[in-house]
Amino acid sequence: MIDVRRPDNMVRITTPELAEAFIAEQIRALREQIGDKKVLLALSGGVDSSVVAALLIRAIGHQLTCVHVNHGLLRKGEPEQVIEVFRNQMDANLIYVDATDRFLDKLAGVTDPETKRKIIGEEFIDVFAEEARKLDGITFLAQGTIWPDILESEHGIKAHHNAGGLPDDLSFELVEPVRILFKDEVRVVGKALGLPDGMVNRQPFPGPGLGVRCPGAITRERLTAVRESDAILREEFAKNGLEGKVWQYFTVVPDFKSTGIHDGKRSFDWCVIIRAVNTTDAMTATVEEIPFPLMHHLVKRITSEVPGVNRVLYDFTPKPSATIEYE
Ligand code: XMP
Repeated sequence: MIDVRRPDNMVRITTPELAEAFIAEQIRALREQIGDKKVLLALSGGVDSSVVAALLIRAIGHQLTCVHVNHGLLRKGEPEQVIEVFRNQMDANLIYVDATDRFLDKLAGVTDPETKRKIIGEEFIDVFAEEARKLDGITFLAQGTIWPDILESEHGIKAHHNAGGLPDDLSFELVEPVRILFKDEVRVVGKALGLPDGMVNRQPFPGPGLGVRCPGAITRERLTAVRESDAILREEFAKNGLEGKVWQYFTVVPDFKSTGIHDGKRSFDWCVIIRAVNTTDAMTATVEEIPFPLMHHLVKRITSEVPGVNRVLYDFTPKPSATIEYE
């Protein structure tokens, strides 16, 4: 399966019927490739790894072990949703690792964005490798590689981010069941596999998670402010018909405080920046025009519900000159 390529004449998967046909064919191919052997999957809860998990659960059930590493930088409710959907609803063999303290301890005092990314990436591999070593008889590693990943790595645009990275003592054969699909097709297949809409239609979320939305040295206090304000923003966008319409939206809590008033007394607290952008390829982006009444409502909710925040700002800057994320 490793070198399977997307046929030039492949019909784009846009309907439940086409998705069902793809699923049936993949289940057959997966059973043939895997036989009675065991498969390991790092399940982040993102669209690609979730669809790979759901496909493998259908094909080989408990021969699949999923490892969900919570690095402490996930959005509110995400680890809980992974456990609910995969362990409780789909009866997956799921190992949940709460590595929050490990990641946040390593990141303490680290201000450089690329160093933060490197620490998060390396620590993730370490945690995953430790879990993998505890398991016996794993032959395969499943990955959520998709067709644009292959094209981009072939064209030298970016290193294929899913490929390997595990220490040499952990050498697995690869299983990549969505490798010939484009992202929109992965979503259609995910829906046909019964994954919840919120998981299938998830907006892009960076690997280093909320860590890059807490610019500079990450503290638990600011991380909580990012997580809580992001949850309010997502809830309000969903209620107001903006979920699925706006490409990416999130909050950032920069590392500075400003004065304000709380319960009639002077406060000195964080501010929350709201970012909401539209793009097709993330190379350039325009800013969403959030209706002012919604903006006022967001300000009211965030300043009253998120501890340690007294100010809310909206980022009107397109890409370029700004990037989408702050780090
Ligand atoms: P920028 O900030 O470069 O973001 O305009 C473009 C898109 O890429 C996402 N992004 C990342 N995704 N790891 C990821 O997996 C990262 O380190 C990373 N940095 C940015 C960003 O969310 C946006 O969708």
